[in-house]
Amino acid sequence: MKIDLIVGARPNYMKAAPIYRELMKYSDKFECRLVHTGQHYDEKMSDIFFRELELPKPHIYLGVGSGRHGEQTGKIMIAYEKAIFDNKPDLVLVAGDVNSTTACSLVAVKLHIKVGHIEGGLRSRDWNMPEEVNRIVTDNISDYLFTTCRDADENLLKEGIAKEKIHFVGNTMIDSLYYYLPKVDKRPIHAQLGVERGNYVLITLHRPSNVDQDEIFKGLFDTIEKIQERISVVFPMHPRTRKMLDEFGMGKYLKLPNIKITEPLGYHDFMKLQKDAKLVLTDSGGLQEETTVLGVPCLTLRKNTERPVTVWIGTNELVGPYPDKILERTLAILDGEQIKGKIPEYWDGHAAERIVGILSHELH
Ligand code: UD1
Repeated sequence: MKIDLIVGARPNYMKAAPIYRELMKYSDKFECRLVHTGQHYDEKMSDIFFRELELPKPHIYLGVGSGRHGEQTGKIMIAYEKAIFDNKPDLVLVAGDVNSTTACSLVAVKLHIKVGHIEGGLRSRDWNMPEEVNRIVTDNISDYLFTTCRDADENLLKEGIAKEKIHFVGNTMIDSLYYYLPKVDKRPIHAQLGVERGNYVLITLHRPSNVDQDEIFKGLFDTIEKIQERISVVFPMHPRTRKMLDEFGMGKYLKLPNIKITEPLGYHDFMKLQKDAKLVLTDSGGLQEETTVLGVPCLTLRKNTERPVTVWIGTNELVGPYPDKILERTLAILDGEQIKGKIPEYWDGHAAERIVGILSHELH
């Protein structure tokens, strides 16, 4: 059984790594090719993750790089179809909601190859998000939908997706978290940044809705300026965010006294920083889930989330891109308000085992 496991952008690597490891255990049964589209391509957004997550060099590298959505998606489709045309896999496994996910699924379905979607069924109901379009398109052309939570199953059923295709398996991103957490403890990242464990706010921002409009972006940075007057801030900056800071002439924010702005960090350092943060402010999807498992309070700077379980039972709270609300909730937590949550069902480090178990059973 030949499986292509697709990765393309930063959030894919930690979702795919446990699956790769698990498939390798059954190499008598599965032949797995790791395919990297090259949507993210440099040391900080890609190479370091391959090393730290112990992924091999990709068997197929498409090298598509950045571009507008249509261009990037189209380039991936052209390159992937060419790469597999004479040596087709039996199944293409994609993860998450990035352009690489949808592009490779489309190629597969048109070549009558089965598609498995890891992290199927999540919905923000916000069609302005490119990721929501990717999620809906990918889910509708997938044969296997591996979900991280029960509400994702409900979303898929309501959209008319057949029950037999849906498999609630848990969260492979959390498999990676449990696997690597014990290994990151000795990393000296706090000393390197000059921050004290448990006494800083960790921030990440990169969603187009937050960083592509100068009014919203400036509002967020004015709020961060106020927060760093109270507590140290660590801000590993996504390349998109860095680019927009330059474009909007917002360089003054890079010089605030109590904020450490770094390049994007590797997985190990970032996990360590996340685990020991007093509070996380983010617009990322993955961080909402990781903070819930780590029990760290998280304020999500978005109006909606495709991962509501992190709000219902985890430590996440939606505050939108609204400066007053962000500041009010941040100060309340810094002043001692306790945020307690529980870990969602099946976020237990064994999701990849369940996925590979299902594939073993279903694919002959
Ligand atoms: C993509 C995903 C998003 C995910 C995010 C995580 C889509 C639609 N979006 O958004 O869901 O949360 O990745 O990072 O797929 N760049 C670099 N180095 C790199 C990669 C990118 O400098 O290795 C620059 C690009 O040149 C571009 C910017 O970062 O200017 C954005 O990259 P892009 O792939 O367009 O999307 P992301 O915003 O990263």
